[in-house]
Amino acid sequence: MAAEPLAPRGAADPDAAAARGAGVTGGSAAGWSDRFEQGLHPAIERFNASIGFDIALLQQDLDGSIAHARMLAACGVISAEEAAQLEQGLESVRTEAAEGHFRPGLEAEDVHFAVERRLIELLGPVGKKLHTGRSRNDQVGTDVRLWLRQRIDALDAALLRYERALLAQAEAHLHTLIPGYTHLQRAQPLSLAHHLLAYIEMAERDRQRLVDVRRRVNISPLGAAALAGTPVPIDRRHTAASLGFEGVYANSLDAVSDRDFAVEFMAAASLVMAHLSRLSEEVILWASQEFGFITLSDRCATGSSLMPQKKNPDVPELVRGKSGRVFGHLIGLLTMIKGLPLAYNKDFQEDKEALFDGVATCLDCLEAMAILFEEGLEFRPARLEEAVAADFSNATDVADYLVARGVPFREAYQLVGGLVKTCLQEGVLLRDLPLQRWQALHPAFEADIYATIEPRQVVAARRSEGGTGFEQVEHQLQRLRRQLDPGRGPGGRGAAVITP
Ligand code: ARG
Repeated sequence: MAAEPLAPRGAADPDAAAARGAGVTGGSAAGWSDRFEQGLHPAIERFNASIGFDIALLQQDLDGSIAHARMLAACGVISAEEAAQLEQGLESVRTEAAEGHFRPGLEAEDVHFAVERRLIELLGPVGKKLHTGRSRNDQVGTDVRLWLRQRIDALDAALLRYERALLAQAEAHLHTLIPGYTHLQRAQPLSLAHHLLAYIEMAERDRQRLVDVRRRVNISPLGAAALAGTPVPIDRRHTAASLGFEGVYANSLDAVSDRDFAVEFMAAASLVMAHLSRLSEEVILWASQEFGFITLSDRCATGSSLMPQKKNPDVPELVRGKSGRVFGHLIGLLTMIKGLPLAYNKDFQEDKEALFDGVATCLDCLEAMAILFEEGLEFRPARLEEAVAADFSNATDVADYLVARGVPFREAYQLVGGLVKTCLQEGVLLRDLPLQRWQALHPAFEADIYATIEPRQVVAARRSEGGTGFEQVEHQLQRLRRQLDPGRGPGGRGAAVITP
């Protein structure tokens, strides 16, 4: 999330301000109580401020403040008339922001102060009543949760689009074969759809995790005030309900100092990125001349500034590279909270850039990968079939052939191992061996061995549940088609689908 550019007002040149011995607050005591006599050192003012990035929370801050003002009126703390004025003032700030006129500078410190200051400018004394029974500590926690809740829903939608792009490719390639690997060595042939559906399974778990995290994001800390609650007769459930929270924090100290939800979110986002990165690695390999399994379309590939023949898979490379940012934010958040005594500590201000960047990175990568699979690459079935036919990935099926005819598996395994060795020495494939050679190896071999080791048959034979056999994969396709149905809502409306 790109923070809106800062437009410091007044003494924009910090050095000039420093020369005068004051920050952009101009030597006044900023918004602090009368305890303060001097303004901040300009470098400290810049260091301390979060307005450069937390302006991204403006909408949530306004929503939270409106809910708070209404609650204060409902509880008789302020009059209905005052609440209406506050709401009107807050909506004016929203309009000013939409029109590009609300551009708080460093002197505001953060979005919460910026809004309150503007409100007081607009409304006069009534504006000063908004912060009754509230602290920035519960306020910022509320804003961040409201923001993240909405972004989780956006991520769910982005995951769904990406999954549908994979599904469409899988539908088209149920009967396309692709070599399956273990240790990146040819293992057994697969239905290409089966391979792609594995990534949808990962993404479905990602969605379930986000739904689960969302439940713990969606708890209101508002009304915990600074740390201990407030003597003001507020109603926490009133604000919680009007902001769409599913509950309130039971303990005010926990409410203002819990960032577990941010860590949990980043862990879930990290897994999304890990999955995207694994798929990216495969796409990069597939696009190489060595594999040649796909061609990249011009819309999703780049050239080289020097080598005219090059077409580079920049999209998956960037996705793979960006995964490190999100993993880094996870460690950053854990490290940020691990030594903090109760309750609020300014360290928490560091949660925002991590969350903003983590969410933006994840959303961008999901979108790019969705586009890549929608229109950025094409599988090359002929080339894939060629690859599958020209190897020993049907060797297990020869052993299984003997097993079906009563030979103990380990014995069959040894026999076939020896056969593969001879073939490699002679430079031939299993299918090239004449029947006498098979029968010399074991009398159970008959002419149907050739059909058995044909790659399409090798795939079709894997009928065990969850296997790559075409019927099994068709079954998985049907289930996922239903699961990814556009009619099914995203997380938060309780729609994560549990894989049977
Ligand atoms: N900008 C602060 C943050 O992001 C807001 C809360 C400040 N509270 C305080 N007591 N200084 O965490």
